[in-house]
Amino acid sequence: MTDESFISLFLESAFNSRLLTFNSKLTSMPGFELFGDEERKEVNDVLETGILMRYGFDGPRKGVWKAKELETAITETFGCQYAQLTSSGTSALTTAMAALGIGAGDEVIMPSFTFVASFEAVLSVGAIPVLVDIDETLTVSPVAVRAAITPKTKCIMPVHMCGSMADLDALKEICTEHKLILLEDACQSIGASYKGKSLGTIGDAGTFSFDFVKTITCAEGGVVMTNHKDVYTKSDGYTDHGHDHLGVDRGADLHPFIGYNFRISELHAAVGLAQIRKLDTFLSIQKKNNKALRAYLEQIPEVSFRVVPEGGEDSCSFLSWFLPTEELTKAVVAEMKTQGILAGSFYWFVNNWHYISKWDHLKEAVTLSALSDTQKIALLKLKETSFPVSDAIMSRCISTAISLVWTDEQIKEKGEKMAAVIQKVLHTHLQPA
Ligand SMILES: Cc1ncc(COP(=O)(O)O)c(C=O)c1O
Repeated sequence: MTDESFISLFLESAFNSRLLTFNSKLTSMPGFELFGDEERKEVNDVLETGILMRYGFDGPRKGVWKAKELETAITETFGCQYAQLTSSGTSALTTAMAALGIGAGDEVIMPSFTFVASFEAVLSVGAIPVLVDIDETLTVSPVAVRAAITPKTKCIMPVHMCGSMADLDALKEICTEHKLILLEDACQSIGASYKGKSLGTIGDAGTFSFDFVKTITCAEGGVVMTNHKDVYTKSDGYTDHGHDHLGVDRGADLHPFIGYNFRISELHAAVGLAQIRKLDTFLSIQKKNNKALRAYLEQIPEVSFRVVPEGGEDSCSFLSWFLPTEELTKAVVAEMKTQGILAGSFYWFVNNWHYISKWDHLKEAVTLSALSDTQKIALLKLKETSFPVSDAIMSRCISTAISLVWTDEQIKEKGEKMAAVIQKVLHTHLQPA
């Protein structure tokens, strides 16, 4: 099926028009927009056996192993040796950290711009999130990373935000020099690559999220990818109460270490299996739509775009663009809102979930149960820390989510309206006094 027929097929359905409304309100990288018969078929395979769990029940499941099949598809699609599915992207990060031996008192250097899940995972293993500035890649700055290294640093965790990536060569060099672990939070960048390798497969381990608004979705789910057998074996046990998975009788399995339940279900994996087979289609539509929208903004000399490191290939799930000043950016956001075209564009600088300025719960160490003293002291220190470099970038940045179901007409309308708003604001604000 061609990209165009995919689009028209789904545009015709009432189901999809409901999603179009939905999507305008979400931070989406939207595999869910093209949900259809393929997903239903995979889910029905599972429903027919009635075995909804990924482990055991070898006889009644009649050869249906959706989670195992999806793990194999992930290794083949993204080019890593091992993949362990989990219940979410957040639990994938927690699992990866545990499997990499990151724990109490260890410092993990991560960016000031991400989703809260990144620091939640660090805290969940008893480690300390050390937040540092980003650069115009919208990901962690290697310069800031170097400056933050202490004898307690154990890991550098770049977060490949909004479809593109950190300067991975620079980060790898720092890791080698200081004997640090590189863990990629690639939850938002499924399908992007750096120097020919898929994001998430370049560090010691990497993670994807398959939640409902990611490039491919399982409804909820995630994965740890790695090329290290021991990291994989540990992730496999950790996500299933420490089971060693060596026999066919779950009750007789041994538990070499303490684990948790971060399992994915067969139903969720079934959806992901149908989605991963459509990934190339999703990416080609995303790239086409991103390029078409970008062409409207490129005509305005005052607009610049997010920097993609040399050798990087953006998944194009977002178009992230900058204006020259915070004042102009705020005026553009306000005018887009007034004209009813802000939906689908995100001003992260004031977003509750994605930028340090709004994470008071983190900076005040508000938790339901006690943190360790070391963690608490480190979090309270964040309250006194400023991020002027990140502020100067994020206050000028708007990211526009790219939909898979836009028609050429809709892109034209959106592009023209956005460009007109920017021109209007520039004209008003840059008039000589
Ligand atoms: C950068 C990043 N990391 C981790 C996660 C967590 O993924 P999940 O929602 O599957 O737990 C997300 C989810 O949006 C994310 O954007």
